[in-house]
Amino acid sequence: MMKLDTTHAFLKEDVKSYQEVVNKYHEQLMKRTGKGNDFVGWVEWPHTYDKEEFDRMKKVAQKIREKCDVCIVCGIGGSYLGARAAIEMINGLYADKKPEIIFMGNTFSSTYIAQVLNYIKDKEVCVNVISKSGTTTETALAFRLLKQFMEDKYGKDGARERIVATTDKARGTLKAIADKEGYETFVIPDDIGGRFSVITPVGLFPIAVAGIDIDAIMTGLQKAYEDMADPDLAKNDAYAYAVCRRILENQGKNVEMLVSYESQMTMVAEWWKQLFGESEGKEEKGNLPTSANFSTDLHSLGQFIQEGKKVLYETLLLVEKPTLDITFPSDPDNADGMNYLAGKSVDWVNKMAAKGTLEAHEVTGNVPNLIITMPDMSAESFGYMCYFFFRACAMTCYMLDINPFNQPGVEVYKKNMFRLLGKN
Ligand code: PA5
Repeated sequence: MMKLDTTHAFLKEDVKSYQEVVNKYHEQLMKRTGKGNDFVGWVEWPHTYDKEEFDRMKKVAQKIREKCDVCIVCGIGGSYLGARAAIEMINGLYADKKPEIIFMGNTFSSTYIAQVLNYIKDKEVCVNVISKSGTTTETALAFRLLKQFMEDKYGKDGARERIVATTDKARGTLKAIADKEGYETFVIPDDIGGRFSVITPVGLFPIAVAGIDIDAIMTGLQKAYEDMADPDLAKNDAYAYAVCRRILENQGKNVEMLVSYESQMTMVAEWWKQLFGESEGKEEKGNLPTSANFSTDLHSLGQFIQEGKKVLYETLLLVEKPTLDITFPSDPDNADGMNYLAGKSVDWVNKMAAKGTLEAHEVTGNVPNLIITMPDMSAESFGYMCYFFFRACAMTCYMLDINPFNQPGVEVYKKNMFRLLGKN
């Protein structure tokens, strides 16, 4: 379902020459003997997921869909980005679907929080609070405000019926609150870290609330699992992509820019940045993951890509079939001079922009381009894409001798912030 094209990447090494290295790390990943092996539950998850909980998620999501105008999803990082990426990619940005999904708990911005609380005050509201640790400050701060809002609006019993908590099965403050208040809960598996958790209730429950077929996401995951069973670099494009990243780094390219031509993929890029940035950026190693949405950003970052310092390579995430398309109309006056496009589809224009840009960046700009093609922006493709990037991420990190599944660096800001906030 996803295909890698390396013919525009100026690779100076043969991808296949890494086959032995890839075989070694593939075995470590599958046998749970590599670095961070207590967090590789996602590898077999396409088959091992809890089917009973999966069905319960669908039922609870349906109830929420019937009851609410708005569902607030409260979480940050891995407990936020995947669900938002999926909902925007699959439904599009102006789907006009009920319930509206609004994200909170991902910022300390007082204006943002106050505006959301104001926006929902006269609406029918449900809340899904998500935190694996159950102690993340952004999420806890927003959830206290939301809990009070819900209890003021619906009373304790009404709030209980409208709040769902996704957290650890036993530990953490959120679990304790959920037990005390009697909230419906879903479990975040111990052996799946935040940025790999979109395929668990962390992502799947809000995605189901947004009306998306989560069975199709699991089908995509399972297909990807099958396609990646063989580490052969001639067949396994996720691993080939992982190798290409290392080859390009060897060529002095330390910045990877994930590029899409679909506006609804912007949050996919944010999710991808967390996946690669938090997994790979340690021990002073790793490529900086950045992103751009074209052609929008060709009118901002395009100049740098074309003529600026040659630090980056692009990874084009190209979608073959748009969710919707429009035929461009003819105009008898042709005052805007646009009749040369009459009868063409807008997606065709987008594809020509992509072709022209690739040529400009590759040939004139000397910027390597990896191209990953995906068929569409369906739920199944989303599941497949997640698994594709998970495998690529694990492999590319192992190739740097890094544990992909921890994030020791994010604790430093928290320590300083807690000191300044006066937390014991
Ligand atoms: O990838 C990660 O582990 C992090 O981004 C976490 O998901 C994020 O910090 C939120 O953590 P928690 O779910 O414990 O609130």
